[in-house]
Amino acid sequence: MGRKTLLLMIMGVFVAYYIYIPLPENIEEPWKLLCMTTCMKTVIDVILFAELLGINHLLNMATFFVSLQEVPPTSDENVTVMETTFNNIPVRIYVPKRKPERLRRGLFYVHGGGWGLGSAAFFSYDFLSRRTADRLDAVVISANYRLAPKYHFPNHFEDVYNALKWFLHQHVLDKYGVDPERIGISGDSAGGNLVAAATQQLIDDPDVKIKLKTQSLIYPALQTLDTDLPSYRECSHFPTLSRSMTVRMWSEYFTTDRSLEKAMLFNQHVPVESSHLFKFVNWSSLLPEKFKKGHFYNSPTYGSSELAKKYPGFLDVRAAPLLADDNKLRGLPLTYVITCQYDVLRDDGIMYVTRLQNAGVPVIHNHIEDGFHGAFSYYGLKIGYRIENQYMNWLSENL
Ligand SMILES: *[C@@H]1O[C@H](CO)[C@@H](O)[C@H](O)[C@H]1NC(C)=O
Ligand SMILES: *[C@@H]1O[C@H](CO)[C@@H](O)[C@H](O)[C@H]1NC(C)=O
Repeated sequence: MGRKTLLLMIMGVFVAYYIYIPLPENIEEPWKLLCMTTCMKTVIDVILFAELLGINHLLNMATFFVSLQEVPPTSDENVTVMETTFNNIPVRIYVPKRKPERLRRGLFYVHGGGWGLGSAAFFSYDFLSRRTADRLDAVVISANYRLAPKYHFPNHFEDVYNALKWFLHQHVLDKYGVDPERIGISGDSAGGNLVAAATQQLIDDPDVKIKLKTQSLIYPALQTLDTDLPSYRECSHFPTLSRSMTVRMWSEYFTTDRSLEKAMLFNQHVPVESSHLFKFVNWSSLLPEKFKKGHFYNSPTYGSSELAKKYPGFLDVRAAPLLADDNKLRGLPLTYVITCQYDVLRDDGIMYVTRLQNAGVPVIHNHIEDGFHGAFSYYGLKIGYRIENQYMNWLSENL
């Protein structure tokens, strides 16, 4: 065997080792998913390496790659697409072209991307908004908001909230022909986080007279307190979202100082003075048996109070909607929650479902057994269409 052949073989083994991530058996189209995630992983690894060399911040470099996948606001044969601002927040608006028979549904959408990436212009969000407008005969508002690392909490929340409040003015609804009785709000991942927080905040806002009819949370992130939930343990290395990336994104929401991330990785970031909050995220009492199987509940371990003093956002209910008490939750509208089995954030969503049920809020839980984080936005895969279809059917019956 020549030296070249040997070298090739070694390289082949190395590449195979890099690409191959064992996926659960029930994942549909595993090779297609592996190809997509390998591309993503390669980009992320290159970026992380560049960050290590001090070239630029991870999110600044990732933003460049994401922006390559943005599309302009182009109308098509069925939907008029335009861009404007609501309360100085840039939004994309999708209005069906067909003649309205009556006032239309309104849907306010908040995109995901870990509080640091994404926009209404990202091709899969643009595509989703068009299809939603067309299928539901709805006016869709797809909101942008300021992102990390340049901006931190509560800027993201405030942008979403201010744009939403603007939309909920009667004269704005009149302008777009929206029925004030049929307005919903939806978001995925970090967008689901912002939607859950904004929907809670609306309950006691004296300025807002119009009520939301539905909220839809698609694999939302809902709590910062416990990074050792069963889903964090089981899906720690799942290729579409790892535990370390989740913790990084969470901490970047509050600060670029990496000390918060470090403490969160050890699950030692909450100060003992906040111990009373753990009951709101106690997976031992809030998860159904099926999701607790094989896991032991460890009592919380506490960290220094310095971090919480410097970055109080991570204990703020507007960042972690699971921290709301039952009295608050009782005022929430009809809620639809999608969770995926292979998702670090799975248990956030499931615990919220339990908490809403306990508070008497009507909630529909759609758990996708072969789903994974991000599946809703993977349009090349059958699962993306399947989840979108279920979500649209639900909206079409309930909004
Ligand atoms: C517009 O609607 C028609 C009829 O539902 C459909 O066949 C067509 O694909 C739609 N066009 C776009 C661009 O979505
Ligand atoms: C969590 O719930 C379990 C019961 O399921 C209980 O034993 C434990 O004390 C609770 N821990 C906290 C911090 O609330």
